[in-house]
Amino acid sequence: METENNVKKVMLSGIQPSGDLHLGNYLGAVKNWAALAEEFDCFYFMADLHTLTVRQDPKEFRRRATAQLAQYIACGLDPQKNTLFLQSHVHEHAELGWILNCYTMFGELSRMTQFKDKSAKNAENINGGLFTYPALMAADILLYQADYVPVGEDQRQHCELTRDVAIRFNNLYGETFKVPEAYIPKVGARIMSLSNPTSKMSKSDPTGCVFLMDTPEEIARKFKRAVTDSDTERCVRFDPENKPGVSNLMNIYASVTGRSFAGIEAEFDGKGYGTFKPAVGDAVAETLRPIREEAARMIADKVYLKDVYTEGAQRASAVARRTLRKVYKKVGLVEKPF
Ligand code: TYM
Repeated sequence: METENNVKKVMLSGIQPSGDLHLGNYLGAVKNWAALAEEFDCFYFMADLHTLTVRQDPKEFRRRATAQLAQYIACGLDPQKNTLFLQSHVHEHAELGWILNCYTMFGELSRMTQFKDKSAKNAENINGGLFTYPALMAADILLYQADYVPVGEDQRQHCELTRDVAIRFNNLYGETFKVPEAYIPKVGARIMSLSNPTSKMSKSDPTGCVFLMDTPEEIARKFKRAVTDSDTERCVRFDPENKPGVSNLMNIYASVTGRSFAGIEAEFDGKGYGTFKPAVGDAVAETLRPIREEAARMIADKVYLKDVYTEGAQRASAVARRTLRKVYKKVGLVEKPF
């Protein structure tokens, strides 16, 4: 997409390396990113600073950050066409994050559902970073003057807060930040857990979660055990209210095959859940097979991955630096002499 100056619009998104990527991350986010590379100037990163809000095993955390990069590339993100980097390698994120902390209100942060969910899950470690997390996320986005933020439904609230902070800052100091928009897919934006279809698929519930690196056998097993609904009808029909389990499976099937809900209902008419569940499992396993194989091959190639994230951080820094300098100047910090 080009503006009047013939400059591509900017897409930016990130995922926390808090676990291996799962089907929700893929269908809600990464799958949609690969197709955007020609039309937009794209920045995608591993949100490793955000991940520190929950305690991590340092060795495993380090492994996951580069494994996630390999998975990004295996999902079709070409490092020549997309800027791929680790958030912690571009120090401007932390710096702008601090500044934006001072322009984000306590009341706004208190309303964030991710904060409420994570504080409930980590009651022993409700740290300041968990609370101010959205200010850092706003910095991630605003540093690159992003036009669009491709995310799943659960990140809409953080994107709205980013807009509010950008508008507040612009009103105080004059046009500084592009006000971004969330870019949320119509299908796949909210994939639910296979073991509990009323809560979203997440790494913290591994039995209901399909990981990109799962083998086809593991995937088949998880789908066979997927919780369906206890209604007497037992037919494949899209009805998220009354049939959340089947509707979630339909959503997944629609996302991986590109079929419509009506088409899926017709395909499984009279066939029941016993046929439907393994069919969804097979379709997912076939979609993920080349991704898993390619990612596994790349994870072993540490030199290549290092080249990619080094170049990515250099490209990202060049853009981030310009915005940060502008912000420092606007708020009245004395210009750095060196
Ligand atoms: P995170 O790491 O929890 O999730 C990464 C992306 O995956 C999407 N997603 C889902 N989509 C559909 N169904 C699900 N069950 C599901 N679970 C996760 C998320 O919506 C997201 O797009 N705060 C962000 C990371 C972040 C970020 C950013 C994103 C940090 N800075 C700047 C965009 C821009 C997060 O925790 O996502």
